[in-house]
Amino acid sequence: MTQETTPGTSSGSAASPGQDTAHGRREGPVSGSWWNRAAVQEFFAERASRWDSRFPDDGPAYAAAVAQLGLRPGERVLDAGCGTGRALAPLREAVGPNGTVLGLDVTPAMLEEAARAGRHRHAALLLGDVAQLPLPDACLDAVFGAGLVSHMPGPGQSLRELARVVRPSGRLVLFHPVGRRALAARHGHALTPDDVRAEPRLRPLLTAAGWRMLSYADEDDRYLVLARRE
Ligand SMILES: C[S@@+](CC[C@H](N)C(=O)[O-])C[C@H]1O[C@@H](n2cnc3c(N)ncnc32)[C@H](O)[C@@H]1O
Repeated sequence: MTQETTPGTSSGSAASPGQDTAHGRREGPVSGSWWNRAAVQEFFAERASRWDSRFPDDGPAYAAAVAQLGLRPGERVLDAGCGTGRALAPLREAVGPNGTVLGLDVTPAMLEEAARAGRHRHAALLLGDVAQLPLPDACLDAVFGAGLVSHMPGPGQSLRELARVVRPSGRLVLFHPVGRRALAARHGHALTPDDVRAEPRLRPLLTAAGWRMLSYADEDDRYLVLARRE
């Protein structure tokens, strides 16, 4: 896997505010958040056309992560922060032609790239924010989120919003094709305890949001959290 070492990328989203980051420093739509929609859109728009070619070997890792959701034919799944839609084909394969796959992203340029790559054939592409999903309560069986956690505008609120749209016992996978330590090393900085992806931080956030963490893996070549809707 060849990856550019720019924080905020698909395999490089460990930036904190003040670094080269999608978020900038201004307040986001969520009170107290440093998330900034315009900065996120600008950051990913600039990278959208090169996104897939920068990470050409990630396909099997995405397919394996999708498999962790245990999707069945006919189920309904959201790819939250879908970007160029790298997970959409395996998600469609898992739910079959009678299932529902939604790919949602806040950056129009990423969705345009998804469509250009033909991934609108696998999913309905939605422009939107994970903190305010344009979806009714409990309408989904599962959510997949790759490279999303560190971009969430207020992780607690976003995880609650994801819980709102998933039925009881539905599943959530939070994934990244590079583990936290390898990612930090690549970017030349140390792991910090306030990283929202760290288990001691993420577990209580998930619990408070209505999820039960079932497994947590933070390995060199995979970050994967599986949770179930309470
Ligand atoms: C690191 S990229 C990952 C893209 C894709 N999931 C992948 O693995 O290739 C993060 C994506 O999340 C999107 N994003 C960031 N904040 C978001 C939000 N609040 N709501 C929806 N999408 C968001 C960005 O536009 C970007 O496409």
